[in-house]
Amino acid sequence: MSKLWGGRFTKQTNALVEEYTASIGFDKQLAEEDIQGSLAHVTMLGKCGILPQEDVETIKAGLNKVLDRIREGSVDFSVSDEDIHMNIEKNLIAEVGPVGGKLHTGRSRNDQVATDMHLYLRNRVVALTGMLHEVQAALLGQARENLDTIIPGYTHLQRAQPILFAHHLMAYVSMFQRDVDRLIDSYKRINLLPLGAGALAGTTFPIDRHFVAEQLGFDGVYENSLDAVSDRDFILEFLSHASIIMMHLSRLSEELVLWSSTEFNFIELDDAFCTGSSIMPQKKNPDVPELVRGKTGRVYGNLMGLLTVLKSLPLAYNKDMQEDKEGMFDTVATLEGALQLFAPMIATMKVNKGRMREAVNTDFSNATDIADFLVGKGMPFRQAHEVIGKTVLYCIQNNKYLLDLSIEEFKQFSELFDDSIYHVLQPETVVNARNVYGGTAEPQVQAAIGRAEQTLSATKAWVEAHSVSSNG
Ligand code: ARG
Repeated sequence: MSKLWGGRFTKQTNALVEEYTASIGFDKQLAEEDIQGSLAHVTMLGKCGILPQEDVETIKAGLNKVLDRIREGSVDFSVSDEDIHMNIEKNLIAEVGPVGGKLHTGRSRNDQVATDMHLYLRNRVVALTGMLHEVQAALLGQARENLDTIIPGYTHLQRAQPILFAHHLMAYVSMFQRDVDRLIDSYKRINLLPLGAGALAGTTFPIDRHFVAEQLGFDGVYENSLDAVSDRDFILEFLSHASIIMMHLSRLSEELVLWSSTEFNFIELDDAFCTGSSIMPQKKNPDVPELVRGKTGRVYGNLMGLLTVLKSLPLAYNKDMQEDKEGMFDTVATLEGALQLFAPMIATMKVNKGRMREAVNTDFSNATDIADFLVGKGMPFRQAHEVIGKTVLYCIQNNKYLLDLSIEEFKQFSELFDDSIYHVLQPETVVNARNVYGGTAEPQVQAAIGRAEQTLSATKAWVEAHSVSSNG
């Protein structure tokens, strides 16, 4: 069969042009959404009296057959039919005859492809939100197990103040919560119907866009037909949210890699999530976090790529916009891959509490607290800082930690010291002294875990509610 748009042409398309302009190689991923959109469109054409009901039924039955054949893998997509939209239309016409050619009444590929992308991304955003939730749940599980585990907290990757390991993990729960919130918020901009915009200006047929929107579970329709076919903000927004999620995963990855090194030895990732070396028999490599860290670059690249594609495009549709797809598909696959591995990898990670404890006992991360002790005795903070600085220097020169000093040694630096300093300097005391909302004291972290449990169950409910409607 010739091209669906062949009437105006006197020559065959150059074979390389056909290859170059075709998108079927990747937009076949939109087959389900394309048919879902077509079913709603043709139903509307019948309801509005644009097509006779009999034709509508024939086309719907044909579309469902094509869908079945695509699902069973018996449809051969062809490059000469360029994209998923024309491949499906060709298959429909082959199935039901010339009446299939009525499906495209009042519609353009421009509003059709935009509709497919909205349907696709809406489902993926719901699924990805669910996966992020699983990662948060795994972190929360480890936090509950580590409410009594103290690690050095770092700034500049230098030991700073002791914190609960649970508190550290809960920081990631908060980060991923912002990601969840961003995805959920973006849903309302994704869940809009472009169809009915036609090629750019609307259509001469008396269509009912709101009826199509309702059938497809969209919350509304695009306000302006030009905007409807040329907007890819919803994809940019997704790519930027995905970039931030990858950045968060990459930061966590970096910590997992550091923590599982012999130098830190704070955690051990489960064997099932590590790989070995082909030459060094002793090696157990944290490939998953390394690769997640590495794959962050391609997601940023996909965002930059699409921003650049769109930056100078005149209204309305331009073929450049076909470049919106591969980066989006790649980003979805990259995120899904990372999130699906992270949840079980975090859940099964072993925490070396003994080694963490040893780290906290052999550093000066309690120094702020003895400065605060002197402040409590009336010394100005700046002076206390100086006194403790000198005390720490003395310890370093004499190969001691603060808790090793005798009271006489302490008193060389200030007469304000007394025996209660040995209690103040205990890691537990130091941690629990930070008993402010959002701080690392155990009751605060307990409360944070409780609040996160509530938030996580709200996310779960949102995902469940929207998984149902997005299939509808
Ligand atoms: N394959 C095209 C895309 O992905 C579909 C829209 C084509 N529209 C057109 N007028 N050439 O953007």
